[in-house]
Amino acid sequence: MPDLDAAWTALEAAAKADGAGRIEDFIAAEPDRLAKLTVETCGLTLDLSKQAWSKAGLNAALDLAKAADVEGARKAMLGGEAINTSEGRAVLHTALRAAATADIKAQGQPVMADVEAVRCRMAEFAGKIRNGEIKGATGRPFRAILHIGIGGSDLGPRLLWDALKPLKPTIDVRFIANVDGAEFALETADLDPAETLVIVVSKTFTTMETMANAEAARAWIAGAVGADKAGLHMAAVSTALDKTAAFGIDEARVFGFWDWVGGRYSLWSAVSLSLIVACGWDVFEGFLAGGAAMDAHFATAPLEQNAPVLLALAQIYNRNGLGRASRSVVPYSHRLRRLASFLQQLEMESNGKSVDKQGQWLTRGSAAAVFGDAGTNVQHAYFQSMHQGTDVVPLEFIAVARSDEGPAGMHEKLLANVIAQAEALLVGKSEHAVETELRAKGLTPAAIDVLAPQKTFTGNRPSTTVVLERLTPQTLGALIALYEHKTFVEGAIWGINSFDQWGVELGKTLAVRVLGELEGGERLDHDVSTTAMIDRLKR
Ligand code: F6P
Repeated sequence: MPDLDAAWTALEAAAKADGAGRIEDFIAAEPDRLAKLTVETCGLTLDLSKQAWSKAGLNAALDLAKAADVEGARKAMLGGEAINTSEGRAVLHTALRAAATADIKAQGQPVMADVEAVRCRMAEFAGKIRNGEIKGATGRPFRAILHIGIGGSDLGPRLLWDALKPLKPTIDVRFIANVDGAEFALETADLDPAETLVIVVSKTFTTMETMANAEAARAWIAGAVGADKAGLHMAAVSTALDKTAAFGIDEARVFGFWDWVGGRYSLWSAVSLSLIVACGWDVFEGFLAGGAAMDAHFATAPLEQNAPVLLALAQIYNRNGLGRASRSVVPYSHRLRRLASFLQQLEMESNGKSVDKQGQWLTRGSAAAVFGDAGTNVQHAYFQSMHQGTDVVPLEFIAVARSDEGPAGMHEKLLANVIAQAEALLVGKSEHAVETELRAKGLTPAAIDVLAPQKTFTGNRPSTTVVLERLTPQTLGALIALYEHKTFVEGAIWGINSFDQWGVELGKTLAVRVLGELEGGERLDHDVSTTAMIDRLKR
């Protein structure tokens, strides 16, 4: 195994040299660059040729992946070892999309029989709701689902619904995540409780926001159909079956998953029950198949042609080699507009850590801040800063090659924009070119001196483009699995446990403490600033 410290030093040296060069020059000088930095797999094409690495930089990044034993880490994860060391758990979201016949064990225990059993129950439950066999308390079929959950119990299903929902759904899905009565009021205002199925999704079934919304939803249903029949409108998804029972949800309507599925990796499980009911099992099965195809690619492709590995290495190169602490993900697809929100949790909750698995402080930066929204909208919002801001923010563009939705001619315009943005970020516009233009317009030399720098684009801003042939359940599954494995590879290189989230605990504990005070309980000890804010909000 190559030495890890030496590999980091080599990567930093390569990045320093590349940082002084131009990506355009790397492209011109490396005839095999496009072939090496394009990966086609699972209905996706990744183009990493506009990234800020030269051939030497790419090789240094691949050497780092080898030195960090990414392949060993991958084997351990897929083999069901307890790689979530701080919680002593295996990490097997890949099992959720595997074939029923696959031989997968979590710490030695076979899992596929349980996975398949829940899949069958979900398919049956969804089918019976869709065909009207399971109805609401008043005998009317369900026309809406109220999906209650937050974080990993919300962001994935929400993304799936936006991406895959039919133009005219027979069953609509509404999401309630926040503990904000306004969200509850807005989402339920035009729903009929007698035709609504509430699905409470919570891995732990203790999350304050979700439990508050679940109570509110049950009361809302009970108000319409009676408390004794409200259960006919409730279902739950959780790993904590004792808690769903204590909440009073009939076990026939509870769909489980397992502690080896992290919340932010759980959209492959019953957590997506709302989508399964609203879109049908076949759609979800296609999604699982897309994820499984990406798993096979990740498990077998050599590192230098491995899509998640290359995507992760580009990120490591930007983050650690070139010091770029944020990244923007921009889907040129209305249906994928929530992708960045999903990735915020996936990447920042997984790898937003300051210590490694041994409890040692990291000496290099970990997860970058991720942000983004749909293109072209963001071109008219924050892209000014992407092109001319003082900080270079690497971008990831997601494009969908073919789409038949909506009025003719629009899709070409969308694609023209994504291509143009990546080109503009790469080549920029030189001060010399701007000066020539301004001179031709008759501006005075003094005016040109002032204006030309303002109209200059440095270019040399890195981007990756990921193209989906079409947006289908399969390509969406492949895309999400791509990002999951990318996140995993980064964590393996940083030496992080990507599967715990201790950092969110403190705020939760303190919120309970503060709530007691806001509700008139005993005054507790805080810093002066916090006490003042409690007093202000109590007033
Ligand atoms: O607060 C963070 C978190 O624990 C996430 O990791 C999780 O996805 C979310 O809360 C929701 O948790 P649960 O599904 O247990 O309600």
